Amino acid sequence: MQAYIFERLGAGLEGLALRDRAEPQPGPHEVVVDIHARSVNNRDLRILDGIYPVAGRPGAVALSDGAGEVVAVGEAVSRFAVGDRVAATYFPAWIDGPFSLRVATDQFGCTRDGMLAELTAVHENALVKLPEHLSFEEGAALPCAGLTAWSALIGPRPILPGESVLTIGTGGVAIFALQFAKLFGATVVSITSSDAKAQRLRELGADEVINYVTTPDWDRAVRERTGGRGVEHVVETGSIETLARSVASTAEGGVVTFIAALTDATFDPRCLFNPIMLRRTYVGSRTGFEAMNRAISANRLQPVISRAFEFGEAKDAYRYFASRKQIGKVVITGG
Ligand SMILES: NC(=O)c1ccc[n+]([C@@H]2O[C@H](COP(=O)([O-])OP(=O)(O)OC[C@H]3O[C@@H](n4cnc5c(N)ncnc54)[C@H](OP(=O)(O)O)[C@@H]3O)[C@@H](O)[C@H]2O)c1
Repeated sequence: MQAYIFERLGAGLEGLALRDRAEPQPGPHEVVVDIHARSVNNRDLRILDGIYPVAGRPGAVALSDGAGEVVAVGEAVSRFAVGDRVAATYFPAWIDGPFSLRVATDQFGCTRDGMLAELTAVHENALVKLPEHLSFEEGAALPCAGLTAWSALIGPRPILPGESVLTIGTGGVAIFALQFAKLFGATVVSITSSDAKAQRLRELGADEVINYVTTPDWDRAVRERTGGRGVEHVVETGSIETLARSVASTAEGGVVTFIAALTDATFDPRCLFNPIMLRRTYVGSRTGFEAMNRAISANRLQPVISRAFEFGEAKDAYRYFASRKQIGKVVITGG
């Protein structure tokens, strides 16, 4: 079978190589998955660039997110059978309970083989069943972006009907946050960089959309559009640079869930005179993934796929993701 592996880490896409590999055989607690679709996340670029906080393992298969069909099971497997449609969890060791940095050191498409292969063998504890109405492409959108958005909204202070949520941009996490916020009966205020993207956000259900390029003091606009109150939840997928305005957009007692990748930028804590809660989250647990899938199934939610690339065009998928042209997820099919 073929797989894209980390041949040279720190060299960006140049270091990603398509190679032949032996077909995986299931260990006693493993299932072999025929991977039909994967999706790209920012961390996948950062791992190739050698700037992700967890270093990739040389020779490992790339990409955390994938969905496929079980084609073989080990003799001790009890959770899955041949023919099941599955996706892997982002952190294989995080089943339930609160996040710990301990689980973060073990990740698909980083420290262990990921999904940019035709087949993979995965421990049954690191898999969930896909919602039945979803295609493999839509299922491949869930493990990182979907669950991150879900965890942001249902954290220690879950979103309530009638509250409002601020989403930032049109990336995979932000679009899932918009969709989940609407499921919970919230009002959604979205900010984006272009009027064309603003139109798509409205089609997806955003109640208010602000162009942050033409309205650089967008936090004021968020307050105006929420009757002066501000939003109860911010799903902060922008950057450290957007954080102060996100805090300023938040209603008293509201929550800013800071998701964006850390960069060299700094954050001035003096903006925290605003009495809000600021929290950092990392994707979510398998239990959270299963709860999200129940909500997706019950509401027949359809993940938003921006563009699909063939397995042989995987590097084009990475490039397209890096261009920030996408609205929603970038997927890689076939293989
Ligand atoms: N903590 C976690 O567990 C976790 C999980 C997943 C992702 N993340 C992080 O969350 C962020 C969003 O992830 P994603 O997969 O949704 O990304 P994505 O698909 O690359 O989305 C990026 C989009 O965000 C908007 N944006 C606004 N301000 C930005 C800025 N300063 N820098 C970059 N983009 C900006 C842009 O949309 P517009 O043109 O519409 O403004 C851009 O297209 C990334 O930083 C990623 O590393 C963290």
